[in-house]
Amino acid sequence: MIELFIDDRRCGAEVGELLIDAIGRAGKTVPHICYHAQLGPIQTCDTCMVEADGSLVRACAARATAGMRVSTNSSKAAAAQVEAFDRILSNHLLYCTVCDNNNGDCEVHSTTKALAVEHQRIPFRPKPYEVDETNPFYRYDPSQCILCGRCVAACQNVEVNETLSINWEDPNPRVLWDGGAAIGESSCVSCGHCVTVCPCNALMEKTMLGQTGFFTSLRKSTLEAMIDVVKGVEPETGYGSILQVSEIESKMREHRVRKTKTVCTYCGVGCSFDVWTKGRHILKIAPEHGPANGISTCIKGKFSWGHIDSPDRLTTPLIRENGNFRSASWDEALTLIARRFSEIKAESGPDSLGFISSSKCTNEESFLMQKLARAVIGTNNVDNCSRYCQAPATTGLFRTVGYGGDSGSITDIADADLVLIVGSNTAESHPVIAARVKSSHKRRGAKLIVSDIREHEMARRADIFLHPKPSTDLVWLNAVSRYLLDNHLANMKFLDEWVVGLDEFRKSLEPFTMEAAAEITGLPVETLTTVATTIAQAKRMCILWAMGITQHSQGSHGSTAISNLLLITGNYMRPGTGAYPLRGHNNVQGASDHGSMPDCYAGYQKVTDPEIRGRHEAAWKVKLPPMRGFDNHEMVDAIHQGKLRSMYVIGEEMSIVDSNANYVEDAFSKLDFFVVQDIFFSHTCQFADVVLPGAPSLEKDGTFTSTERRIQRLYQVLEPLDGCRPDWAILRDLANAMGANWKYGHPSEVMDEIASLTPLFAGVSYTRLEGYKSLQWPVAPDGTDQPLLYTNKFAFPDGKARLYPVSWLRPVDEPDDDYDLHLNNGRLLEHFHEGNLTYRTEGIRQKTPNVFVEVSPELAEQRGLQNGSWVQLISRYGQVRVRALVTDRVSGNELYMPMNSAESAVNRLTGSHTDPVTHTPAYKESSVRLKVLGHGESPLPRFNFRFGHPTPQQGVEVERKWKRNDYRMPGDELVQIHLTAEKE
Ligand code: SF4
Ligand code: SF4
Ligand code: SF4
Ligand code: FES
Repeated sequence: MIELFIDDRRCGAEVGELLIDAIGRAGKTVPHICYHAQLGPIQTCDTCMVEADGSLVRACAARATAGMRVSTNSSKAAAAQVEAFDRILSNHLLYCTVCDNNNGDCEVHSTTKALAVEHQRIPFRPKPYEVDETNPFYRYDPSQCILCGRCVAACQNVEVNETLSINWEDPNPRVLWDGGAAIGESSCVSCGHCVTVCPCNALMEKTMLGQTGFFTSLRKSTLEAMIDVVKGVEPETGYGSILQVSEIESKMREHRVRKTKTVCTYCGVGCSFDVWTKGRHILKIAPEHGPANGISTCIKGKFSWGHIDSPDRLTTPLIRENGNFRSASWDEALTLIARRFSEIKAESGPDSLGFISSSKCTNEESFLMQKLARAVIGTNNVDNCSRYCQAPATTGLFRTVGYGGDSGSITDIADADLVLIVGSNTAESHPVIAARVKSSHKRRGAKLIVSDIREHEMARRADIFLHPKPSTDLVWLNAVSRYLLDNHLANMKFLDEWVVGLDEFRKSLEPFTMEAAAEITGLPVETLTTVATTIAQAKRMCILWAMGITQHSQGSHGSTAISNLLLITGNYMRPGTGAYPLRGHNNVQGASDHGSMPDCYAGYQKVTDPEIRGRHEAAWKVKLPPMRGFDNHEMVDAIHQGKLRSMYVIGEEMSIVDSNANYVEDAFSKLDFFVVQDIFFSHTCQFADVVLPGAPSLEKDGTFTSTERRIQRLYQVLEPLDGCRPDWAILRDLANAMGANWKYGHPSEVMDEIASLTPLFAGVSYTRLEGYKSLQWPVAPDGTDQPLLYTNKFAFPDGKARLYPVSWLRPVDEPDDDYDLHLNNGRLLEHFHEGNLTYRTEGIRQKTPNVFVEVSPELAEQRGLQNGSWVQLISRYGQVRVRALVTDRVSGNELYMPMNSAESAVNRLTGSHTDPVTHTPAYKESSVRLKVLGHGESPLPRFNFRFGHPTPQQGVEVERKWKRNDYRMPGDELVQIHLTAEKE
C-alpha cells in the first residue's frame, strides 16, 4: 500500500492502482463514462480528468504513486470534465423522459446531472447513418452513440469475437460491425456483451424498446413531437428541470420493472444475472455481478428465453387413453401414477422401476428425485444425463486426485500460462469460458494448445493445433507424459512429495514412444515434441476437456491420462493450474452431486457403505436398498430384458439424446407405465402414459452447481404458468400421494436436509447463498468453501494423488468398406442440445433454422456435393436425411453433425457401445456411409455469423482518435474560459 492525497485528504492506495479506483474507495466521485471496471481503461471520453501533481490526467488510466496529490475538483480539472462531457453531448440527444434507458443507470443522464450541465456549448449533431435493426436481438442507433468504445472493448477484449471497431479516421465516426457490414450479416455472435456495457441507449435490447418507459410506447411521430417540445424548452429552462421530470418518470418505473437474480438455464459455465421483467415480459438480461461471468453471457443466456412464454408450453397433466392423450387434473394424474408405481412395485419389486433426474432441474429437485426412488419406492435405479457425457471425467479424477469436479475456478483458467484444450469446442459449448481463454491468449500472451478432429474457433486461434486421428488422444497424452519423464522434464519434486504410483506408471508408458504415438495418431513426432516442451516450460497449465474425450469407449481412460499428465508436471495445488472437465448442462454437476446416481447418495456417499446407509435410513425412517442400481444405459437394456417395467423421466429428452435412439425408443414403447415430466411435449413424451407439466428455471427457487463446483441460488422470476408446478413441488406431491408425508414448503428446507446428511455440503445454506453469493464445494460446516481444490492435500486418506496407468485400445466402430466415413457430433453455439428450448426463440430460429452435416471441401468434391445438398447418412444402427454444409472446419472423410434436431437426430446413427467403466456411450465412435440425394438450399442462412469477417484489433485503439485533427485533450481552452470567468 502507498499513501497519496485526494482532495487534500490522506488516503491509501495499492501500488499501481488506477486513480479512479483509489478515488472511489476514498469516497469521492469523478465523472467517468467510458471506464468500466471489467473493461479496464479505454480513455475515450475524457470526462474523468483530474489534476495530479499539477497536471491534468485521465483518472481511469493514471496510476497512483506514493505522495501523489490529486484534485478531483480543482478549477482546472472541473473545467476539463465539463468540456469533455460537452463533446459527449454533441453526440447524444438527451430525451430521457421518453427513453427506454431512463432507468437510473444511464451514465450520460447521471453525468449530466452530476456535472450540473444546464446548456450545451457544442450542439447535438445527428450522425448521417440509419439505425441498424438487422440483428434479431438488439439495435444500434448511431446518432445516440457517444463513441465511448465500451462496446468495442467488450467485443475485442472480453468476448474476443473481434466484430466491433470504430472508424476514428472518418469525418463521422461510428461503431462498425466487421468494418462496415449490417449487424445481421456480420460475424456478431449475439453474445450481448456490447449491449450490456453500453452506457446509454445507443445499443439496446429490442425487448426493452417501447416497453420500459411510460411514454416510450407512443407512436414514433408522437415521440418525436415530445422530443421537440423538450428541446424547445431547454434553452429557457436548462437541463436541470428537464432532468427532474425524467427522474420522476424513472422513479415511476420502479413499480413496473422487477429485477430478479437467476442463474442461466443452459450450459455449465454458471452465468448469473438479473432478469428485468414487466409482468411476464422479459425486458432484458443484465449480467454484472455474477462470480463466474461478470458482464459476460452468450447468445443463449442473454437472449434465448422464448421458451418461457412459448404457446407450446405444457399447462396441464396429460393421461394416455386409447392411444391418445387427454387433459387431466393434477389430482387425477398423481393418483394414477402413485397407484401404478405401487402396483408395479408390488408385482415385480422396486427394482422394476427406474428414475431419471434432469440436469436442467435444481439441486434440490435432484435430491428429491433420488429420495423418491430410494426412500419411497425402494430402488437405487436412479441416474441423470451425466452418464452421457461427464461420468468418465469424474472417474478419471476420482482415480487420480480424489474429487470428481473441476480442480479450480474459471479465474484459474484465465490466469494460466498455458491452456490445453482436448476434445472441447469451447467457443460454442462453453462460450464464456472460451472468452476468458481467448482474452488471456490475446491480451496476456497465454499459450493455447488445442487437440481436436475439427478445426473450430479455438483450434484456429491456437498456437499449436493438433488434429489426431479420431479416438487417439489418449495415445499422444501418454506419449507426452513418457517424453517428459524420460527427458527429466517432469516435476520430480512434486511427484516425490505428493504422488504415488510413479514406477508402475512409468512402466505402463513403455509402449508410448513418440514414434509409436506418431504412427497411431498421425501427428508428427516433431509436433508432439514441441507440445511436450511447451508443456514443460509452462509454469501454470490448465487442461480443459469435454465430450471429445469422454464420449469414447475409453472415455474414463482418456480423462485419466489427462490427470496423469497434470500430475507429472506438477500442475495441481496452485492457482492457474488444474483439471477442468467442462460440464455440459447448467446443473449436470449438481444432479450427480445431489445423489441422482445409482451408487451414491448426495455428496458421492456410497449406497453400499452400511454406516452411510444407516445414517440415511435413520433420517428418512425407512429401510434403504443396499446394492447399486441400474444406470440409465442399463435401464434401457433392462427394459429390453423385461426387468424394468416402469420409468419416471424428468426434463430429459432421453429418446433422442441417448445413443442408438431407435433402440431406446423401442425400449420405451415396451414400458408398462411411463411418466415424463417436462415443460414441452418432447419427443420422449410420445412414449409416455402420463405427462406432467413442470416449470422452467425462471419459475422456481433453488440452486444450481456449475462446472467450477459453484453453488448458486436462482430466485423465482415469474409465477409458474397456470397449470404448471415447480418440479420440486411435483416430486413432493407425488411422494405424498404414495404416503410419504414430505413437508417441504420451500427448496431451502430441502437444502437444509442435504447439508445435514452430506459432509461435502455441510455448510451450505440459503443464507450463505443470498443474492450473488456462492459457494464452491466442499463446504465446511462453518461455511468455508474451496475455490481451489487440493491446496494442502489430495482427497485420499493419505493425502497423496495417484498416477493411474491406462492403456489404449482401438475404437469400437471404425470406418470400413461399408461405412467409410467417421461421424463426429456435438453442440452448436446458438442451440442447446436438441434445441427444445432454443428453437422457441424466434431470433435463434431465424439465424439457425436447421440441422446440417459438415462435409469437407475435398469430400464434397469427391462426392459431387454442394452446400445444401441433401444426403442420407446411413450407419449400422439407423439413418437420417440431412443437408450438407461444406466447410474446412472438417477435413477428409470426417463429418460433423450437431445435435440440434429431433427430426434428424444424430443419435439415430450412433451405437450402443460404451465406456465399460461408466457406461457412457461412445457417441464419438461412429461410422456412416453417405448417399447424395439431390441439391437444396444452404442449411445456414447467409446471415449466420459463421459467414462473417471479424476485424481483430487491440481494443478501441483510442490513439487513432487522439491523432484526429479535431481532437484536443480537454483542459487548456476551458481552463482559460474558467479563469476569465473567475476574473469577471
Ligand atoms: S459479438 Fe456481437 S453481440 Fe457480442 S460483443 Fe461483439 S458485436 Fe456485441
Ligand atoms: S454503442 Fe458503443 S461506442 Fe456507442 S455509446 Fe454504446 S458502448 Fe459507447
Ligand atoms: S449458456 Fe453458458 S455461457 Fe451462455 S450465458 Fe448460459 S451459462 Fe453462460
Ligand atoms: S472514464 Fe476516463 S477517459 Fe473515459
